[in-house]
Amino acid sequence: MADKITLTITRRKLTEILIGLVALFLASGLVAALLKYLWPQTQAAGGTSEVKIATVDEVPTGSAKKFTFNTKAAVLLHTPAGFRAFGAVCTHLGCIAYWKPDENVIYCPCHIGKYDPNTGAVLSGPPPSPLPAINIAVREGAVYALSWKDPNYVKSISFYAGAA
Ligand code: FES
Repeated sequence: MADKITLTITRRKLTEILIGLVALFLASGLVAALLKYLWPQTQAAGGTSEVKIATVDEVPTGSAKKFTFNTKAAVLLHTPAGFRAFGAVCTHLGCIAYWKPDENVIYCPCHIGKYDPNTGAVLSGPPPSPLPAINIAVREGAVYALSWKDPNYVKSISFYAGAA
């Protein structure tokens, strides 16, 4: 014969338990946010994380690949002079720029901004400042993004908030 267990919970006790569970849920979110603040993701000196962008074979000369670097859109170009990488968020109003190898420019379609694919400098259009360059490394057949070339410059661009 099995004993039957009866549990009686008052409405008040049930409410207290539910409030406690909600408080626990909210507190766990706060603790997670606090831990993330105190111990951010593994980062190299300079506040950036290394990212494998592509294998060398994926980006033959004359082509490009989009990627994300420190939460921001970025682009890897394989120019005749070699690999280059830049933040792809236009410094004008934040549209995403891309490489036009036929014109040899990094092009922002929103207001026809054009950047130099070797340096990121503004060639024409309304962008007020260059695209930020990214240090890259090519090793063992792959291209890696290492860090912003000038983290202080990146911090100065409003569209790159939190990326440096
Ligand atoms: S947003 Fe790029 S040129 Fe205006």
